[in-house]
Amino acid sequence: MTGIEELLLSRIRDVADYPEPGVMFKDITPLLADPAAFGALTDALADIAVRNGATKIVGLEARGFILGAPVAIRAGLGFIPVRKAGKLPGATLSQAYDLEYGSAEIEVHAEDLSAGDRVLVVDDVLATGGTAEASLRLIRRAGAETAGVAVLMELGFLGGRGRLEPALQGAPLEAL
Ligand code: PRP
Repeated sequence: MTGIEELLLSRIRDVADYPEPGVMFKDITPLLADPAAFGALTDALADIAVRNGATKIVGLEARGFILGAPVAIRAGLGFIPVRKAGKLPGATLSQAYDLEYGSAEIEVHAEDLSAGDRVLVVDDVLATGGTAEASLRLIRRAGAETAGVAVLMELGFLGGRGRLEPALQGAPLEAL
């Protein structure tokens, strides 16, 4: 394990049986409270953005906002929020996706993305991959390309990488 991996891992708290019995929640608040760890994470994600030629950062509500906004500033790029349905005031593109039980919907302001943009999606966790996959569909429907998906953590046992692969169309999924 590299030094940064050890640092980041040491600042993620496992919370058993949250939000429901049988789930081990990965709490990133200790990492956010540590400026050295949060700064190292921001640098690493900004490096992924620059390396992959991103021109914009998309953050996924809500923890993707906390991580994605400083990455955008560090990389000198604009930040675009992808929100849960009903939160954006302007004209939006919406994308529904399946959850284990039921479905969800995310939205982006249509004017925020267009042809010529290369967009890196930033979030804290890739679990089933449903949210990230839906965001890639939104980006493509807006006419933009994807520079990839960058997350702090990938929960490999949930198979999100496989679900995401077709929507990535060859762009990288990087998990720190
Ligand atoms: C969590 C997490 C990711 C998503 C990952 O967000 O922050 O965005 O779920 O899950 P998936 O890969 O199975 O789609 P959540 O919906 O809990 O929202 P929050 O950040 O607003 O709490």
